[in-house]
Amino acid sequence: MSRAKGFISFEGIEGSGKSTQAKRLAGYFRSKGKKVIHTAEPGGTNIGQKIRELLLEPENHMEPLTELLLYYASRAQHVREVIYPAILDDTIVITDRFSDSTVAYQGYARGIDLKLLSRLSDIVNPDLKPFLTFMLDLDVEEGLKRNKKASKKDRFELEAVEFHTRVRKGFLQIASEEPERVKMIDASRSQDEISEDIIKIIEEQWR
Ligand code: TMP
Repeated sequence: MSRAKGFISFEGIEGSGKSTQAKRLAGYFRSKGKKVIHTAEPGGTNIGQKIRELLLEPENHMEPLTELLLYYASRAQHVREVIYPAILDDTIVITDRFSDSTVAYQGYARGIDLKLLSRLSDIVNPDLKPFLTFMLDLDVEEGLKRNKKASKKDRFELEAVEFHTRVRKGFLQIASEEPERVKMIDASRSQDEISEDIIKIIEEQWR
């Protein structure tokens, strides 16, 4: 699987500030005159938005395998409808979450066999990997506290701290396995400090 240069993902636990940083990075590229889109998973397409609602609705008691297949369904649509065409059009794609979230949440936290994830991923998304992934790392309790401001909790925000701790461990494991692609960012700092780090890395890598 090849890393597409114009494809960047943001990953991290709940409340780690991914969307804010993804938006800021998109603004940075725009200021340099580049074409850029900021998208997200689950979601990113009309079908993906509907799948997102199914996935996050707190009343839905969902089997782990159903959950996994819905994330892959959303990705299958997102990759083909949005990501590939944008990359072919020389547009930089910044996505809030991608396949590392599936490995961390459905693999490490739900306990689904990582080999099954890898087999399905080869079908859904055989040849596209982010060029860079910013892993916004934060203490789990701090992340959940930041998220408390949201009035209605989704199915994942309602999970126990232990679940989110497994997610974080999964992300740290992924980062340790692929240090070239995955850049760890200390997300406990101010938004400005975090974006400065991110832009520094982009400027180093984008030569
Ligand atoms: P969001 O809050 O970042 O929009 O993401 C919605 C939830 O979906 C979040 O709790 C993480 C979860 N998720 C997975 O469990 N697996 C995945 O593959 C993705 C993309 C997200």
